[in-house]
Amino acid sequence: MDFSTVAKKASSGLLFLTIALMALSFVQCTPKHQVTSSTTTLINPDKGLKDYYRDYFPIGVAVSMASLHGPDSALIVKEFNSVTPENDMKMGPIHPSENVYNWKNADEIVDFATSHHIKIRGHNLCWHNQEAAWMFKGPNGEPVTKELLLQRLKNHIFTVAGRYKGKIYAWDVVNEAVDDGDDTTQIYRKSNWYKICNGPDFIEAAFRYAHEADPDAKLYYNDYNSEHPVKREKIYKLLKKLIEDHVPIDGVGMQAHWKLNDPSPNDLRKALDEVTSLGLKVQFTEMDITIRLPKSTPAPGTAPAAGGAMPTPEAGYTPEVEAKQIAQYKMAFDIFRQYRHFITNVTFWNVSDRSSWLDWRGGGLTGGAAAGVNTPREVRKAYPLLFDENRQRKKAYWSVVNF
Ligand code: G3I
Repeated sequence: MDFSTVAKKASSGLLFLTIALMALSFVQCTPKHQVTSSTTTLINPDKGLKDYYRDYFPIGVAVSMASLHGPDSALIVKEFNSVTPENDMKMGPIHPSENVYNWKNADEIVDFATSHHIKIRGHNLCWHNQEAAWMFKGPNGEPVTKELLLQRLKNHIFTVAGRYKGKIYAWDVVNEAVDDGDDTTQIYRKSNWYKICNGPDFIEAAFRYAHEADPDAKLYYNDYNSEHPVKREKIYKLLKKLIEDHVPIDGVGMQAHWKLNDPSPNDLRKALDEVTSLGLKVQFTEMDITIRLPKSTPAPGTAPAAGGAMPTPEAGYTPEVEAKQIAQYKMAFDIFRQYRHFITNVTFWNVSDRSSWLDWRGGGLTGGAAAGVNTPREVRKAYPLLFDENRQRKKAYWSVVNF
């Protein structure tokens, strides 16, 4: 056989081998539910969000009694490996008077998660909202003193964090203590806590108590609009001070109640860079991306409301709006994966678009109950999550697992 014949045979053999390998890899990589794009992730309907992100960070969801006892339950187990009680561990609900603790719901959530090997984030130990009103009154109904208030805070944290010691791996210790205004010198929210303590001492105290109560739990400061430049700077100042004062804090919860165009990728990166430069970890603790516009913004193509008294009805969940939401989710998760070494959890606030806390939020026009067989789709609904009203995966879901 001369050289050219050998070369021809070899190259046709090589060609055959190449085609065979390509065919094999096509068969192996073609997902059952292919999403249009050049994906490197193997899309598999049997996998949940937690499985796609196994090598990145846990993916969590806020839960309630309704979600644990209804059809959401199976979806939670399939898709998530972290839960946060939406309301059941907050100070008001769990500790409504000095000697009364309502453990039932919180215990159920902990038992559910433990039995399914799901991590638990505790939410929260000190907040100005859903607070325990009794704490602010002295023994004879007078305003409580700072000393007594901090003693009560300590008892509360020792009792709650102590009960779930070793079961709750991370706590939102202090929630939303930073002021929302534009005045950069006004760092702290003027809450009852702040006023009675005549300053921010309660923040440091809460972290120290939590660390004493459960030294292994990771401790977070949790707030919203953490990517907005002014608030970002205020949160940074608070964190820097806590670190300088050697307060036991592990990280920052960025709630991530976001909008279609907010935050920008740049603002999100800046917030992450700033916090991680302090050596802190980040958890995105309450993620959702509402499709609702700010009240004063008329929907595209509609006239402003007469007199401006009522908000203009929004156009609803149109394909354009959906595309923007998909893009915003994709942008966020692309950045999350880039910061995987700093991000230790991403949690969604509620399970599906069937019921989101945002639907109940004052909206003036409609809003409220989820659309169902007998109820029409409400244009004021927020549709903020990765699962639709029938608990099916939305296109936004595929955009975050398709990487
Ligand atoms: O449980 C009572 C019920 O007995 C009563 O009949 C009913 C009447 O209104 O209220 C029920 O309580 C409601 C509770 O949710 C449970 O559904 C409260 O009114 C309502 O205010 C409360 O809203 C919660 C809100 O925090 C309170 O500020 C939302 O569910 C919860 O999603 C939301 O979560 C917060 C985070 O903790 C912190 N970050 C912001 C986030 C969204 O506001």
